[in-house]
This record gives sequence, C-alpha cells and structure tokens, in this order.
Amino acid sequence: VAGTEVTSIPTKQLRSGLSLPVLGLGTWLMGGDAMRTDTPQDALDVRAIEGAVEMGYSHIDTAEIYGAGHTEELVGQALKSVDRSKVFLASKAKQGNHTPQLLASALEASLRRLGTDYLDLYYLHRYTPNTPLEETAEGLNALHAAGKIKHVGVCNFSAAHLDELQHYLKPRIIANQVHYNLAFREPERTGMLTHAIEKDYFVIAWRPLRLAKRNADAPPVEHNVWESGAFPTIETLAKKYGKTNVQIALAWTTQQPNVLTLVKSSRTVAQQEAAAAFDFKLSPEDYTALSRDFTPQYPVSDTIPLE
Ligand SMILES: NC(=O)c1ccc[n+]([C@@H]2O[C@H](COP(=O)([O-])OP(=O)(O)OC[C@H]3O[C@@H](n4cnc5c(N)ncnc54)[C@H](OP(=O)(O)O)[C@@H]3O)[C@@H](O)[C@H]2O)c1
Repeated sequence: VAGTEVTSIPTKQLRSGLSLPVLGLGTWLMGGDAMRTDTPQDALDVRAIEGAVEMGYSHIDTAEIYGAGHTEELVGQALKSVDRSKVFLASKAKQGNHTPQLLASALEASLRRLGTDYLDLYYLHRYTPNTPLEETAEGLNALHAAGKIKHVGVCNFSAAHLDELQHYLKPRIIANQVHYNLAFREPERTGMLTHAIEKDYFVIAWRPLRLAKRNADAPPVEHNVWESGAFPTIETLAKKYGKTNVQIALAWTTQQPNVLTLVKSSRTVAQQEAAAAFDFKLSPEDYTALSRDFTPQYPVSDTIPLE
C-alpha cells in the first residue's frame, strides 16, 4: 500500500473558527447493521477504534441506530482507553426521536452507551415531516444550553430544511452529512456545496469509497473504488500520483472547500491508507477531468436522498 505512514490528518476551518480533520472514522457495520450482532468481531472493532485514535484519527462518527445501539457500546469501550478530550465524538438521533422529550431521552441513552457525559456533535439522522422543525430546534437548544451537546448537525437535509431548522436553532448548524462521492453527485447538483460555503458549515461526505449502485435495477453494480480494473479513470491518476485508488477517491472528495469525509474500516492497513490520502492535491486539470469523466454518475443518492 502506498503511503502507509500517517503523520497527521489535515484540518479544515469554518469562518466561525471551528476546525475539524478532513477525515473521520466511520462505524457503520461495526457491531451489526440496523440490528445488533454480538460476535468475536466486536473485540476486533473495539481494537480498530482504539488503533485509529492512536494513529491520529480524532473524529469518530456513530449513531443510535447503528447495531441498534451496540455500535455506540463498542465506541464506548474503545473510549475507555483514550483521552476523551482528544476525541471529537459525533452521534445521531433517529427520525422517530425528534420531539424535545424523545431527543433528551435518546441522547441520554447514547451517552450511557458511549460512556461519556457530552457529545461534540449531535445530528438529526434524517429529516422527518412528522415533527415540526421548530419543536425539534427547541429540544436541541435545551440540550446545547445544558452543555450535553457542543455542536448541532444534520444529515441528508436539503438546503431548504437546513435553513428552516437554523431559523429556530440558537447554535449554528456546523455540518450536513450527505451521500457524496465520485458516483453520487446529489450535493453538487443541488447546490449544497455552495450553500455550505455561504452558510459556513461542513459538508461531511459519507460512503466515499463505495461507488456501487446497490438498489438499482438488477443486477446491481457491485464495484468499489479499491477493486482493481473497476474504474480506469481513477487508476490512471493513481499511477500518475503514486497513490492508491482509495487515496485518489478521498482526495477528490475532499478537494472542494468545506468538504470533509468519513471512512469506516476495521483494518489498520486500510485506516492508514485513508489517512495518507491528504498529503497531495489533484491538479485542477486532473480534478476537473476526473469529475467530468468518471462513470457511472448518479444525480440522486440510491440510499438516502436529500430531503
Ligand atoms: N449520516 C448518514 O446517513 C450516514 C450514512 C452512511 C454512512 N455514514 C457514516 O459514514 C461512514 C462511512 O461510510 P460507509 O461506512 O458507509 O462507507 P465507506 O467508509 O466508504 O466504506 C466502508 C467499507 O469499505 C471497506 N474499506 C474501507 N477502507 C478500505 C480500503 N482502503 N480498501 C478496501 N476496503 C476498504 C470497509 O471494510 P473493512 O472494515 O473490512 O476495511 C467497509 O466495508 C459510516 O461508517 C458512517 O459512520 C453516515
């Protein structure tokens, strides 16, 4: 693997002064999917989270729905051996928990599983029309005022709903987590990237490495960016820059202002590979050509469209 030595993951800064690393550790599929699993892999995942922090990852992303809470428990176990103040810890409230009362109890449950008394960032995992954003904002305002959440974010929100929530919210929304990679271009097409610069929040690209369209008409395209021969436009650049396919994809994803990303890996070598993707930049010509020529490209997420 090219560039396995991690020195430090660079950061980006908002005009507000908040700065975050361009790469954080994802945790989806550690400890289960939407269901809990308890397997010998749990111990390896706990060790993988600890190892990532030792390696220089400081932003950890999880959610109450991951592993039906079990993923947060694994993160909590890993955090026992880590200096909490060195970690930027993010979790998410599910759509059914958006009233002030449910938000408060969902947060308490997340904090208990994570073994901490505050989150650095608390997200709404998805927009829902079932709870008015004004009401949800009241709940978030109270949790923020109590110091239990340092920052507020949203996931998979359209610019219009983000603006509507912000209207009622006291703290500034610092992030919108969205499905964004070379294949899935909804945040570009909808103007989200420009909106983020204008309103001073991070766009945090989830699933930067899995370019497959899985819910599409059968048979699904099962290619991922690391697979040799799957994406020739990436491979040509990997050779030119002396980087791996994964590193080219991550560099592309985060080359625009305000964009950060998250990668989940339970393997040290892959965590190192991702962390070493930011010591170079694609030239403007290569960036533009890759953006234009990469296939396939989809205008809308196949998993969670912006809403
Ligand atoms: N807000 C939302 O709605 C939302 C939705 C989806 C995801 N997310 C967050 O974003 C994070 C990242 O997205 P994701 O986990 O879906 O996708 P991803 O990070 O793009 O890909 C993860 C998959 O790629 C494999 N992998 C990672 N690095 C690799 C490498 N260098 N070479 C080969 N395989 C590699 C991992 O397996 P191994 O562990 O075996 O390496 C895993 O199967 C999630 O974990 C989650 O925290 C948020």
